[in-house]
Amino acid sequence: MTDYKLKQGHRHFLDISSISPEDAREIIEKAKALKKAAKEQNQSKGFVHPDAPLRDQALAMIFEKPSTRTRVSFEMAMHQLGGKSVVLQNHDMQLGRGESVSDTAKVLSGFVDAIMLRANSHEALLEMAEASTVPIINALTDFSHPCQIMADILTFEEHAGSIKGKKIAWSGDGNNVAVSWIHAAVLFDCELAVACPKEYAPLEQVVGWAKNNGGKVSITENPVDAAKDADCVITDTFVSMGDEDADKRLKDLENYQVNADLMADAKPSALFMHCLPAHRGEEVTADVIDGPQSVIWDEAENRLHIQKAILMWCFGK
Ligand code: CP
Ligand code: NVA
Repeated sequence: MTDYKLKQGHRHFLDISSISPEDAREIIEKAKALKKAAKEQNQSKGFVHPDAPLRDQALAMIFEKPSTRTRVSFEMAMHQLGGKSVVLQNHDMQLGRGESVSDTAKVLSGFVDAIMLRANSHEALLEMAEASTVPIINALTDFSHPCQIMADILTFEEHAGSIKGKKIAWSGDGNNVAVSWIHAAVLFDCELAVACPKEYAPLEQVVGWAKNNGGKVSITENPVDAAKDADCVITDTFVSMGDEDADKRLKDLENYQVNADLMADAKPSALFMHCLPAHRGEEVTADVIDGPQSVIWDEAENRLHIQKAILMWCFGK
């Protein structure tokens, strides 16, 4: 019988809420160090770290949904750490025609050392983690997007110092990205004010989890209240991958657009962040996302540096 357990020292990265605050901080600091080293040496994107810390590791990346940032950042992260990666689109796999998630996990565990999954359903991610003998990384599900928010924390701290005690405002859909921000608010001890219509509020179980764990998370229907004195204002698309009611969503969420008026309610030094892809004129105006307070390009680049740190953490390095 195969023992479906991870190797000693290896671990899954399923959600920010499923790791310790110490480990979350370790990943951020590791990413800062990896980025600094790469910049100091002015390395080209195709460089390989002199120690090639993942030289013996291979990563399978499964996509059930499209991706630009996540796919390229993970692939380049593996390359830069000296490892290998294989990109798999769901529709090209037997998974796409009904092979079970658990059989897929067991088979891939014999070929690669870790699996990154962008899944339609969070249940599939958990099923994969249950069956796999190698670390599973959540690269976005309908529930959460933890890799993105780890990059966001890194970006915030580069521009505005420690996030501890800072106020982050979210305006828009209480979606998967918002859920990972709620998790992060607890682990990194910052205040998070989410503004959204009631129908689009983040899952009650997540808000309850945050409150039970001492999180300073508030939910309001008023974007001005959320943005007031914030150190950072964040939004995301009003129509996520898999959402079918686009017209209704755009209408219901139009008052939650991040524009110059809303940014004026935040601190003058406030940052603007967005995980991208963005829809100018919908969740954010062009003057904000392309303006001086926006740090979206650093945020996108930081996906690469955080992916490297997350991968190393998964392998206990
Ligand atoms: N932010 C993000 O996850 O982008 P992609 O969908 O392009 O991977
Ligand atoms: N909430 C968006 C994030 C995309 C990176 C989605 O799930 O489509």
